[in-house]
Amino acid sequence: MDKLLNWIDARFPLTALWESQWGKYVAPKNFNFWYYFGSLATLVLVMQIVTGIFLTMNYKPDATKAFESVEYIMRDVEWGWLIRYMHSTGASMFFVVVYLHMFRGLMYGSYRKPRELLWIIGCLIYLTLMGEAFFGYLLPWGQMSYWGAQVIVNLFATVPFIGESLGVWIRGDYTISDITLNRFFAFHVIAFPLVLLGLVAAHLIALHEVGSNNPDGIEIKKQPKDPQTGLYLDGINSHPYYTIKDIVGVVVFLAVFSAIMFFVPEMGGYFLEANNFIPADPLKTPEHIAPVWYFTPYYAILRAVPSELVSFLPATQFYGVVAMGAAVLIFFFLPWLDRGAVKSIRYRGTLYKSWLAAFVISFVLLGYLGVVPVTVWGQFADGWPLLGGADKATVVARLLTVVYFLFFLLMPWYTARDKTKPVPDRTT
Ligand code: HEM
Repeated sequence: MDKLLNWIDARFPLTALWESQWGKYVAPKNFNFWYYFGSLATLVLVMQIVTGIFLTMNYKPDATKAFESVEYIMRDVEWGWLIRYMHSTGASMFFVVVYLHMFRGLMYGSYRKPRELLWIIGCLIYLTLMGEAFFGYLLPWGQMSYWGAQVIVNLFATVPFIGESLGVWIRGDYTISDITLNRFFAFHVIAFPLVLLGLVAAHLIALHEVGSNNPDGIEIKKQPKDPQTGLYLDGINSHPYYTIKDIVGVVVFLAVFSAIMFFVPEMGGYFLEANNFIPADPLKTPEHIAPVWYFTPYYAILRAVPSELVSFLPATQFYGVVAMGAAVLIFFFLPWLDRGAVKSIRYRGTLYKSWLAAFVISFVLLGYLGVVPVTVWGQFADGWPLLGGADKATVVARLLTVVYFLFFLLMPWYTARDKTKPVPDRTT
């Protein structure tokens, strides 16, 4: 084996690559629970690609055959049900893992100097992942696939001047059709996975260049090196220490994953919606159209913004579309919005902690409000000033949307004013 490795190393930097990216990568020694989700995201990415390849072997991207081919996979193909449930459970779990991974970044200020680019690449991954999930959802050609895509593509039609042509250009037709299905298939199985893989590679290269942050927000590279080990004082080799730790995470994650996949694959309609077990019918709009749970906070923001925003501008849903887009894109600017003296939540004051809590609560509640019809809580009685007749859920969604944006927009102010604690020299 040594001889083979030497032969390869003389021709390709295999050992050097392994050592720089993991084998000799020095990481802070205080990683906690929140540091599992990067490796878990990598695991899910691989799982989605492998199960996706096997699904493609029996799936037919044809409007007359797609729905049936998925049923065929579920009922007739040997182990087809397992492959399909792995892929559908994997899609939702990908977002669970990525949301927790991003939340860790918010808690520990992992987006701040020198990790701005690492964060930006992460945000690009998030955007690509959303596109990937959206295209994939059309493929089973169920009622929700069809009408969900209809609603989202129609959002582009609200763009002033070019909207209508833009909608036709995206669909390749005047409605969602076989042509749309074909191109979404192309995006889902090749274009977006390629971009995703490229971005994840860039993400990891950037990470290993600047080094990991940690729950104390201390830069270990600023510490002196231990003369005995040659490592920074609070650094340890990723391998074998974090290899072992990550394996623990993988085992626990796969147990949870399997429990969902084998016992509740539809997850009460959150992972696979009931309406999607009915073939797409362009002549029958479902009573209640809602996207899958991971899009619902943004969907709630879209619905919360009134189409008659100010009297001197024309009424259009475009305002909601802009708000929805801004809600995602605003994450890119975090490195420059945060002006706090410390990175980690451990040493921040109550201002940052309260705003982060308010943001998380508004994100989760918006997620809920995006699932249910706006009429869920009824309406304000006619006598209410300003609010009379309005759907209660819409009013709450508006308030939450304001909180969501204020978390970002007021950040330069409250992080600068926050009473922070002194950061120790060594990790705790
Ligand atoms: C396919 C999706 C993703 C994969 C496979 C992935 C992978 C990883 C891995 C393996 C790590 C190192 C281990 C860890 O710190 O947990 C990491 C760190 C990091 N990721 Fe991701 N990531 C993904 C998405 C994202 C997204 C969406 C963001 C932010 C918008 C992000 C931001 C970060 C940051 C800031 C770090 C450094 C964290 C620190 O050192 O404290 N990542 N990522």
